[in-house]
Amino acid sequence: MEFETLPGFRDFLPDACSARNSIFDHWRLAAESFNFQEYDAPVLEPLELFIEKSGEEIVGQLFNFTDRGDRSVALRPEMTPTLARLVGARANSLKRPVKWFTIGEHYRYERPQKGRLRAFYQFNADILGESGPGADAELIALLAHTLRSFGLAADDFVIRLSDRNLWWSILAAEDLETEKAIEVLGIIDKMDRMGRERLLEKLADAVGSRAGEVCARIDAVREIRDFAALESMIRSLPLEGASAEALHARVEDWRCLMELLSHLGVGDSVRIDLSIVRGLAYYTGFVFEAFEASGAGRALAGGGRYDDLVQKLGGPAMPAVGFAMGDVTLADLLQEKSIDLEPPAKADFVCVIGGLEEQCFALQDVAFLRHLGYRVEYPLKSQNFGKQLKAAVQSGASFALIYGSEEREQGVVRVRDLRTATELVLPREKLASAVSGIIADGIESLTSGD
Ligand code: HAM
Repeated sequence: MEFETLPGFRDFLPDACSARNSIFDHWRLAAESFNFQEYDAPVLEPLELFIEKSGEEIVGQLFNFTDRGDRSVALRPEMTPTLARLVGARANSLKRPVKWFTIGEHYRYERPQKGRLRAFYQFNADILGESGPGADAELIALLAHTLRSFGLAADDFVIRLSDRNLWWSILAAEDLETEKAIEVLGIIDKMDRMGRERLLEKLADAVGSRAGEVCARIDAVREIRDFAALESMIRSLPLEGASAEALHARVEDWRCLMELLSHLGVGDSVRIDLSIVRGLAYYTGFVFEAFEASGAGRALAGGGRYDDLVQKLGGPAMPAVGFAMGDVTLADLLQEKSIDLEPPAKADFVCVIGGLEEQCFALQDVAFLRHLGYRVEYPLKSQNFGKQLKAAVQSGASFALIYGSEEREQGVVRVRDLRTATELVLPREKLASAVSGIIADGIESLTSGD
């Protein structure tokens, strides 16, 4: 019987594994340069954690089952509820703001397609305990910085910025109750994928005979691309009293966020685009998604503010904002842009060993060089000398260390640069002092000094 990987799951052979780890390295380095601390948590959680907290769409995609202890459990489809749970439980002892990141595998039972799998990696970065737009700006800047760190140019991608808080005001100005507003937000989230007729039908279910005019106003909001237009739209909303004041404060949040993003050098990558509302249930404020510049394909990353989630999961009131970037769409984009990821590393040294008598010297050097941190390989069974040398060249290693009978008799090792075919004979006791120079400058530097 032949076994295959399950649909939407991947094997990572060394080339793919190396590319994947190289993505992780970039993610980690970017997060660390913004002084985020790394954390981790279980991949299996109580099912309840994701029900309601993640929203309908994700709940419909859960990998869940009952374990042997009769617990309902689920493989995590995302990190945010877990993070809110674990920060909430320790909120009093954590220094705020909490700036944390994690890299891990997530599982969603989606239809496998370009950019979408059932097991994928995410880089999550979140800030908890800070409610002002400074935290939103820091995360959007980290998102842009991370994409740039792969060698993508500022105009290879776009971060579309929107605001669920503002959408609530816009829908309140349409006289929509909370339940209807939630329904309409859901429609706005799927608007691009819906035909006009279907859209109007759906809107009519929510707002009745006003569907046409509401749709036209929603369209106008979705077309706003600059701050001036956004500000004038906000000022024209027919709201009074506390709602009008809150709206006024929101304009200032927007102004502050746009200014911070520009100072942080990422303003050019950010575009106001209120067509983004995000499918997840817990978002409360600014939301954003990163796409390839043309807007084609699925999102590279998505995130936003979720100020109520920690409290909903039993913790104290704690504002929060964050994003997650996936490895699948990112790797596709890097490939499209011909940006290579790290191939598997090659050995620094491969030993070529004459016979059993030479083996004990060679293996002493192997152990010693490995102890120093070099990548060292040797043949695991005795082999013809020429065959070993050929294999060493083919392996892509930098140097061969040759231990023949002649070398043994003279107490030397022959170091061969496999790329230039030049050689150097070294007394074995000098290998320790010469090795870092050999790796850094090649053996020519040592031969020319002799
Ligand atoms: P999300 O938009 O569901 O947000 O996912 C974020 C990213 O994960 C997506 O933009 C995509 O790159 C990747 N992704 C999601 N589903 C799949 C899939 N089936 N296959 C491949 N890649 C996928 C969240 O998960 C939020 N929890 C992000 C967040 C963090 N919000 C606040 N903090």
